[in-house]
This record gives sequence, structure tokens and C-alpha cells, in this order.
Amino acid sequence: GLEVINTIAGLNSLLKPLKLAQQKIALVPTMGALHKGHVSLVKIAQQHADVVVCSIFVNPTQFTDPKDLEKYPRPLQHDIEMLQDAGCDYVFMPSVKEMYPVPENWHIDLGPAEFLLEGEFRRGHYQGVTQIVKKLFDAVDPDLAFFGQKDFQQVLMIRNMVAHFNLPVNIISCPIIREEDGLAMSSRNIHLSAAEHEHALVLSKALTYVKDHFQTESIDILLKEAIAIIQSVKGVELDYFTIANSETLLPEKDKAAQQLVALVAAKVGETRLIDNMMLN
Ligand code: PAJ
Repeated sequence: GLEVINTIAGLNSLLKPLKLAQQKIALVPTMGALHKGHVSLVKIAQQHADVVVCSIFVNPTQFTDPKDLEKYPRPLQHDIEMLQDAGCDYVFMPSVKEMYPVPENWHIDLGPAEFLLEGEFRRGHYQGVTQIVKKLFDAVDPDLAFFGQKDFQQVLMIRNMVAHFNLPVNIISCPIIREEDGLAMSSRNIHLSAAEHEHALVLSKALTYVKDHFQTESIDILLKEAIAIIQSVKGVELDYFTIANSETLLPEKDKAAQQLVALVAAKVGETRLIDNMMLN
């Protein structure tokens, strides 16, 4: 059954014998309010490792809007049941004091992509994300860690952090899980009213449009069309829609370029949503 652990010391004493026995350990970091997207990461992790640890920690240092942190959903009992049903081995749920015993002035060089896209709209966000992921890696010492492609830029930033510290952790990026209507699953979807949910579908629709017309239209036209599709829905306020190089996240105009990805962010009512699709 699932075991709940709240301290780093508790984690150490449980995991040390497993490591001595050469067990492969996987970590799935989350902020809770779990949905099928999170569960898919646990399932993929189970295929790659002997022991799966899921962490649930609403990390204050990555929130750039205090209201967003305050209203972040925390359905702990429900989360524990979901992990139990998924067959997860351990859930690590530390307090803020446990993860941040002393104030820290953290800064590492995450490369030029840090301040693009999400980094532009949420200044400092990726310092906070990589800070907590580093601390979770230190606490769990996993062989592998699993992240969703849903947060495309986050995976890049975490890979850069891992390279920066030479961490022996294999980072695995996993597919985006969507509702049947196409909306990318997110813990923040719970804030959407029925009407807002309907409006939010335009994000995956615009991405799908670009993917479906990628062979026949220029990037300029694709961008124009996608933006027009999104702007035709009132109640959706676009932050960005871009077709970018998947490594640099810089805008790309050349369709023959290596790996391209379309990325979008928008506010639907008070809820900020992101989504993306690989194009080639
Ligand atoms: P959170 O938003 O809870 O997401 C936890 C993990 O689940 C992330 O790797 C995210 O990309 C993945 N995920 C979310 N929605 C998904 C979906 N629809 N399909 C597939 N995967 C999905 O991302 C974070 O938490 C935090 O920034 C964290 C990495 C835990 C650091 O605090």
C-alpha cells in the first residue's frame, strides 16, 4: 500500500535500504490536486523503476502571484486516494518549513530561455521551480524523474538545472493528457466555470489547427490564423501564441527547421492556462 512520508529524514530511512538493494527509484514531483495527467506520470514511472515516489508540495517560491498560491487547490485526501489507486509506493508531503528551513537567495543560470514565454509573464518562476526540484532530488536521490510535456518550458529548465549541477538523474518527459474535449488537464481547470471551460477549448483547437495545416501553410499564416481563432472567443485573453524551436524556444519562421513546437498561454476569466503541441 501507499505510505505517506512528511520528512526528509523519514524518506532517507525508508529509501536507503532500497538503494542498497539496487532498487531503481523514480520521482514524480507534483503540487497535488491530482488528475489523470499526474496519474499517467506515475504509471509511466512504474514501467521504468522498482519504486515510485510521488511528491506533493505547493511550492511557494515558484508562485509569482500571491492570490494564485492562496487559492491553489489542496484536496489532500482525494490525492492520497488517487495515488493509492495508481499503485504508487510512497507519497512525500513535506511542510514548507521542512523544504525551506532558512530563507534562501537562490539563483542559477538557466540559460536564455528562462525569460521567454512563461518566464516573461512569470518573472522568477523558473528559479523557484528548479530550486524546489533540486531540493526534491537531494531529498529522494532518484534514478529517474518524470515530468509532463504540458509544461514544456519547465522540462527544458529542469534539464538545464540538472546539467548545471551534474545531477545523476534521468529526466523523462511524458505526453500531455487531455479531457475528451481536448482541454489539457490541469489542477487549475477546477477554477473554470462551465462557460469558461467551453471558452478554454479554443486553445487546443488553435494548436490542432496549426498542427493540421502545418504542411500546407506558412508559419506566418499559421500564426495569424491561430491568433484569430483564439481572439474570436470573448473571455479568452491571449498572453502568447508562438511557433518555436523546441530547444531554444525562440520563434521559428523556417518550417524545415529541426523540432518545432506551438505554445500558447491565455487567461480564461481569472484562470491562466498553458498548452502546446509538437509540430514535426
Ligand atoms: P504540477 O502542476 O502539479 O504538475 C506536476 C507534473 O504533472 C508536471 O511535470 C506537469 O507537467 C505534469 N502534468 C500536469 N498536467 C499534465 C497533463 N495534462 N498531462 C501530462 N502531465 C501533466 O509542475 C509542477 O506541478 C511544479 O512546477 C513542480 C514540477 C512539481 C515543482 O513544484
